[in-house]
Amino acid sequence: MAETPRHPFLQDLSKHRGAPPTAVVIFGASGDLTARKLIPAVYNLAADNLLPPDFHLVGYGRKPITDEAFRELAASAIKEFSRRELSDDVWFRIAERTTYVAGGYDDPAAFDRLADHLAKIDEKVGREVQPLFYISTPPSVFAPILENLGSSNLAKKYLGKPHHAKVIIEKPFGRDLESARELNKTITGVLEEHQVYRIDHYLGKETVQDLLVQRFANSIFEPLWNRNFIDNVQITVSEEVGVGTRGGYYEQSGALRDMIQNHTMQLVALTAMEPPVSLDAEAIRDEKVKLLRAIQPIDPAVDVARAQYAEGMIAGKSEPGYLEEEGIAEQSGTETYAAIKLSINNWRWQGVPFYLRSGKRMARRVTEIAVQFKRPPGTLFAGGGFDLATNTLSFQIQPDEGLSLILNGKVPGLETRTQPVKMSFRYSTTFGSNTPEAYERLVLDAMIGDSTLFIRGDEAETSWKLYTPLLEAWEAAGRDGMGEYAAGSWGPSNADALLAATDHVWRKP
Ligand code: NDP
Ligand code: BG6
Repeated sequence: MAETPRHPFLQDLSKHRGAPPTAVVIFGASGDLTARKLIPAVYNLAADNLLPPDFHLVGYGRKPITDEAFRELAASAIKEFSRRELSDDVWFRIAERTTYVAGGYDDPAAFDRLADHLAKIDEKVGREVQPLFYISTPPSVFAPILENLGSSNLAKKYLGKPHHAKVIIEKPFGRDLESARELNKTITGVLEEHQVYRIDHYLGKETVQDLLVQRFANSIFEPLWNRNFIDNVQITVSEEVGVGTRGGYYEQSGALRDMIQNHTMQLVALTAMEPPVSLDAEAIRDEKVKLLRAIQPIDPAVDVARAQYAEGMIAGKSEPGYLEEEGIAEQSGTETYAAIKLSINNWRWQGVPFYLRSGKRMARRVTEIAVQFKRPPGTLFAGGGFDLATNTLSFQIQPDEGLSLILNGKVPGLETRTQPVKMSFRYSTTFGSNTPEAYERLVLDAMIGDSTLFIRGDEAETSWKLYTPLLEAWEAAGRDGMGEYAAGSWGPSNADALLAATDHVWRKP
């Protein structure tokens, strides 16, 4: 009898059980991301027994705090942000191997101290422990950290051996093409590309990985996945939250840099790329870059809409407009919403618009990829009693993760009437709801040296190449052309007009 094939996620799990001895060093250890995502990720990996026995966690930051104080900070982060409650059993296993090194990011002597600290860990463990450096600081200190990893020789630690130094770099990866190139240059000055893990946490989301499985592990989609059958693709990444306390950061960023250029483009690439020759990191990343290169330049006068949120209601609560938020310039020209029409010039997609939109303070938090198929010829079911919808396959990335397909069905009865019906698959009902967070998967993948879910240097530059002219055009225009939408709505009218120009309308997710 033929052997039942293993579920792909189970195969992954067994791969992960082989993580080598690792010391994860977090730069920016007292920061927001460390508390909300990184420490809870380490904790949950420990709870799932996915950490290697010789795992060490080292916090690094400018604050002169003790090991004990860092452990307390970590424990309270787990209590507040972990998907699992803090259990003493699991926590003690990590706590006894959690330490802290105080030092500046531009201080070579402090990096020498860090190198000594890691050498002592190796000594204690009695074998080589690969360092995994996680740069979780504001981008202004990415370069000094990288340079000091180079000058202290930490960047080359165990290079040439199976498990060597690796570096995870947080977003934003530059703020335009030139700065991304510069950062890549700094990186390649101290590290080899295979040591570098550029984060886009959307790639760590289960449903984003499922996109590849749905597309390439099912035979029913691929024959339809092209310009002959697909009318348009709509990708929505909307959030209910506003800029909150991150006004200072957001003013320098905006929706295009914060969400579209990175997270949303990853969704475009995975939806539209050609089948890779294998599941290897390079095979997948080659296809993504090829796809990004086929995207036509964006015309700032025709293909885009941008806007800021105005005062409005969300979940019965009145929310202020963007210009009233803390840290925002009175006449700010930063967009909190961006919509883009992309044209992909290749055999598969020519003539199929890809519409992207992302905004803060919108009606609902949802990330969705909706593939809208062409209408059937209206020869049979045309006219009055037929309520026909376009077939739409929608990947619900978050929340309420799943997949749905809109079909047209017959309404039971003696007359022939039609009605759109929805077939749905929900992760929570099939697999349960306690799925790992993106950062768990990403930290573990970096530990075992799998870079599939990370961005390659040329990938980041290709995306910036596409968006830099648009960013420059918006900067030159100031507030000219800036639309407005009420907080709690589905976006501005200029974004509706963008689709209306090609006889399309935004889908309500
Ligand atoms: P924080 O502003 O919380 O900074 C992290 C740490 O870096 C601080 O605790 C501080 O540590 C140090 N630091 C802060 N400002 C400076 C400065 N001007 N110069 C040198 N060191 C500084 O950042 P986050 O934790 O929010 O973000 C870290 C990285 O992760 C950023 O690149 C961000 O873009 C990215 N990111 C964050 C997300 C989030 O939700 N927070 C989401 C996605 C990405 P100390 O004083 O101890 O040295
Ligand atoms: C971050 C952005 O990269 O992604 C934030 O900087 C945004 O502004 C966040 O809120 C959204 O992530 P998620 O996983 O909540 O969709």
